[in-house]
Amino acid sequence: MLCKKGCDILHKLVINGGKRISGEIKLQGAKNSALPIMAATVLADGQTVIKNCPELTDIYAASRILTHLGCKVSRCENGTIIVSNSGIEKDSISEKLMREMRSSIIFLGALLGRCGSCSLYFPGGCQLGPRPVDIHISALRKMGIVISEEHGKINCTAPNGIKGAKIMLEFPSVGATENIILAAVKAEGETEIKNAAREPEIHDLVSYLVKCGAKIECTSGSTIKICGVDRLYGCEHQVIPDRIAAATYLAAAAITDGAVCISGISSLDVSSFTGYFEQMGCSVCTCNDSIYLKARNRILPIKSLKTMPYPGFATDLQSIMMSVLCMADGTSVFEENIFESRYKHVDALNMMGADIKVYGKIAVVEGVKKLYGANVEATDLRGGAAMTISALAAEGTSEITCINHIDRGYEKIDSVLASLGADIKRKPETR
Ligand code: UD1
Repeated sequence: MLCKKGCDILHKLVINGGKRISGEIKLQGAKNSALPIMAATVLADGQTVIKNCPELTDIYAASRILTHLGCKVSRCENGTIIVSNSGIEKDSISEKLMREMRSSIIFLGALLGRCGSCSLYFPGGCQLGPRPVDIHISALRKMGIVISEEHGKINCTAPNGIKGAKIMLEFPSVGATENIILAAVKAEGETEIKNAAREPEIHDLVSYLVKCGAKIECTSGSTIKICGVDRLYGCEHQVIPDRIAAATYLAAAAITDGAVCISGISSLDVSSFTGYFEQMGCSVCTCNDSIYLKARNRILPIKSLKTMPYPGFATDLQSIMMSVLCMADGTSVFEENIFESRYKHVDALNMMGADIKVYGKIAVVEGVKKLYGANVEATDLRGGAAMTISALAAEGTSEITCINHIDRGYEKIDSVLASLGADIKRKPETR
């Protein structure tokens, strides 16, 4: 785990499986909302108060970038982050800071919007196959930005200022949509993004920027129109709940024949994932601010799960759902259409006794009656979460190492699961 100061402390999770997950938890705020909103504070003068900000290593990494750029960042006990921006002092970010997470690329649009120029490096983050930024770059070029790349560095200038443009994305990339919005909010004229990403986290970023004074309209379906303004002012904003974390904890209950109630889901479109749990035979109901899941003794398979851009089946949920369907009464088939290498968790699940075969972008999961504890390594954020879910249901003890990946997206996953009855401990990794 990277601590608040950015030094490495390696931990592992030790899980004695077989305990039923049941009880009530409050949901964390969405990482994928909080990170672009933190980057967007670069554009807003004065103070921004971000509520419901999860405590994650990626959030610490974003705080370090903001501090490096000249902002003051403080965190209160209740999950509130306060960013004071009295002027950005630099338009560059070092390779070390950029490589701490994938989302650092969102500072590209934010710095361009603020300074009209920037220089930074290709980001780090989960290795899910090639994660190019060509869509970001070609869109920004349409806005009058001159971009050169050398030795992993991206240099951007706008000799004639940043101009609004009509942009048609070849793929609704989440990061590219965010970068264009951030570069456009203070640009000259109007920008129109067609085939924009429609994830709830994009709408949360838009909602924050509009509160700051931006003029953004999300019109029918996947078009976003942005009319540039001169200045933005900090405001108070509450980050939306994390739909992927919600589905992860529902999965923990589903695989252990448990029952869980998750509160704090207001404003969340749970229909994007509850249907899959219902297909597995679980009972799911939502009431006001909470979602409740009761597992079915044997899990039903799902014939076809194809990852797609929102509102389709989220690629971030593919490994999580796979971990549950490992124990289904029959065969489930996955098709991964977003990332090339997003089956890295499969070997670990098979080591636990699962029967999964991968054929390119297809994974065929034959349900087994039992999983067994094993020592495995978290390969990426959601892959590591999937191993944790399977370990909860496995007979015997599992040790999951490299959980720095998991800590990037789940706030205190060990404490949350322990509060739901799991036998799970975080221990220092000895190598
Ligand atoms: C975001 C999410 C991540 C999620 C993903 C897809 C954050 C911090 N991360 O990642 O959790 O899994 O959306 O829902 O919000 N692509 C290109 N060229 C580009 C940009 C993307 O080819 O310039 C490809 C990527 O390689 C990938 C696909 O498009 O295969 C989706 O990428 P994108 O939507 O940009 O994902 P991220 O913003 O990186």
